[in-house]
Parts: sequence; C-alpha cells; structure tokens
Amino acid sequence: MYSYFLTIYSLVLFASDVNAYSSGSPDAFCQYDRLDGRNVILRPGHNVRPRNPAPHGYRLETGQFNPKSLRVTLRAAPNDYFRGFFVQATRADFPLEAINRPAYGTFRPLDANSQARRCRAAVGGVGGITHTNNRDKNVVSFDWYPPASCNLGNVQFVATVVKQYNEYWVDVRSPNVTGIGFQGERGILCQLYNDPFNTGIQQEVIRLLSQQQQQQGQQQGQQQQARTAG
Ligand SMILES: *[C@@H]1O[C@H](CO)[C@@H](O)[C@H](O)[C@H]1NC(C)=O
Repeated sequence: MYSYFLTIYSLVLFASDVNAYSSGSPDAFCQYDRLDGRNVILRPGHNVRPRNPAPHGYRLETGQFNPKSLRVTLRAAPNDYFRGFFVQATRADFPLEAINRPAYGTFRPLDANSQARRCRAAVGGVGGITHTNNRDKNVVSFDWYPPASCNLGNVQFVATVVKQYNEYWVDVRSPNVTGIGFQGERGILCQLYNDPFNTGIQQEVIRLLSQQQQQQGQQQGQQQQARTAG
C-alpha cells in the first residue's frame, strides 16, 4: 500500500521533447514535476495548435465490463485514419484544462499498436495509453481496469488524436460510462482518486500510512521480544 501511494510523490522530471513521437508519446507526457507544469490538455509537443473545434469524425467507444475491465476503441471514419493517440480516463464532464482533473485506472494494450504510459495524476495506476508506431490506423482497441473498490461516479475517456504532425485534435470524448466501482462510502484512498490534488486528503493518507507503519513496527518488536523471552 505504501509504495502504491509513493508513486504520487515520486518526482518525475518533465522532459520537454519536441520530436514527432513516431513511437508514441514520450514517457513523461503525462507526468510532471510541479502541478503547474502538468500537460493537462494532453497536447503533443508539436509546434502547432490543435484543430479544435473543427469536426474530426473520430469516435471513442466503450464496451461492457468483462468482468473487471472495459474495452475501449478509438475509431476513425471508414476512409479516414489516425497515426498517433493518447487516451486517458477522467471524470465525466470535467473540463480538459482543469488543472486538478483526475486520471483513473490502468490501461493494457491488446496488440502491438499501443503501449501504456504512466500518469502521475492516476495515483499509482497506469493512467494513459499511446501508439507505438506512426502507421495509418483506422481503429485501435485496448482494455481499461478501474481502480478496485472505488466509486468513481461517471467516467469519460478522453483522447488526443494525431492524424499528421501538424493536424491533431484534443478532447475527443467517449460517452459517459456509469456505475463504475462499488456504490458504498468512499474510503480515504478512493477520495484521493477522486481528488488527487487535494493536499488535505494527501496529508491524511500520509498520516494514516505512517501510523500503520508504526503499528507494524511495534508489532514486530513485540513478536521479537516474545521470541527472545521464550
Ligand atoms: C455524464 O456525467 C456527468 C457527470 O456525472 C453528468 O453531469 C451528465 O449529465 C452525464 N451525461 C449524460 C449524457 O448522461
């Protein structure tokens, strides 16, 4: 549990690389050193602006839970293509550019066209997925695993889709996915999933974890004493 949480605090240097990323978004695409350095709108390092709000014809679709994962598919129109992409799960209807926008869960590729990417905001999960090559693609699918036993409310997948180096769109959204996770009360770690940048919750989690560590340490000490005495 402790190492799971530590990933939030591990410092990851933000590499500002401006290549074409023919082999997917860089490792640090979804990471950041300081919150205000976060690439929250998932914009590639290309020196051009996204084409939004021009129509694009790309669709982000979701299947049924099976039983623990959800199949996600990014699709171009029948005679169209994309070369690059980056997909994240986030809170439904939450603005892309909100600096405290959460990223949820873990992605797993289904074929050699995609690879998972860590996202710091994903609280220990592998919060994103990207392409591995710049061949023309009409469709790509992968699986998403929500964090276990957290009620996330409504979730939406959000994509950055790159057709060519100077032609890409951000904020391509799936329909809402509802009923994710159990419907009971949110544990403290779930609260952190829902509000990963809330320093009050972060401090409370750190306090509970260090308390837990101390208790474990004391128990071990007592066991040792019991063995020595016996
Ligand atoms: C999607 O989820 C958001 C946030 O829970 C909600 O406000 C909105 O009404 C939902 N939209 C649809 C179409 O269900």
